[in-house]
Amino acid sequence: MARKFFVGGNWKCNGTIDDVKKLVKTLNEVEVPSEDVVEVVVSPPFVFLPLVKALLRSDFAIAAQNCWVRKGGAFTGEISAEMLVNLGIPWVILGHSERRSLLGESNDFVADKVGYALSQGLKVIACVGETLEQREAGSTMDVVAAQTKAIAEKITYWTNVVLAYEPVWAIGTGKVHIGLRKWLSANVNAEVASSTRIIYGGSVNAANCRELAAQPDIDGFLVGGASLKPEFVEIIKSAT
Ligand code: G3H
Repeated sequence: MARKFFVGGNWKCNGTIDDVKKLVKTLNEVEVPSEDVVEVVVSPPFVFLPLVKALLRSDFAIAAQNCWVRKGGAFTGEISAEMLVNLGIPWVILGHSERRSLLGESNDFVADKVGYALSQGLKVIACVGETLEQREAGSTMDVVAAQTKAIAEKITYWTNVVLAYEPVWAIGTGKVHIGLRKWLSANVNAEVASSTRIIYGGSVNAANCRELAAQPDIDGFLVGGASLKPEFVEIIKSAT
């Protein structure tokens, strides 16, 4: 099954109102391959979501960078899936490596978030990836399989899920993507394995995006630093 190329721009915890306006202007003016070829999703910090929603071209979509694990309520500092839906934000990034490593989000916690966000109608960019130590210990595939298993157990329909594999040091190999697709085939089913987009995040930039995009099992990117720069346009264009 054909998988549409996906380019996500994760702005992380960066920017001011002016920066956001400039960035959106750049994105709005650029000529990109047609919607049939590439799906572009940008992910601003929460506070800029309404601004970006108001200004961004309609053929690009928006993702939040996180959301609460269940229905909102007395959870100071959190943003619920319901709020994102209410705001008209279609996507959310969950289980990003920075949240796993810096904020201690466990496999089960991330999986619960994925399940809840999907139940509320959000589309999810679910992130998996091993630490450098785990990689050096040779346990990359075991780690990402365990992360994916936890998430898979909470998913009924994979249509609204993109899997993002994002370790910086694996750039250019594509091996883990093949491993993940095999894992989906063996543990979910062949249809999900062939239709689910598995994207790559880790220092993707204008210089390396085309080589990466050429890997058959890399279906797009989750771009951090370069999504804040004009070169993001080149990354979008690497879909063709
Ligand atoms: O969300 C994006 C990934 O963490 C990659 O970030 O492109 O700055 O390496 P990066």
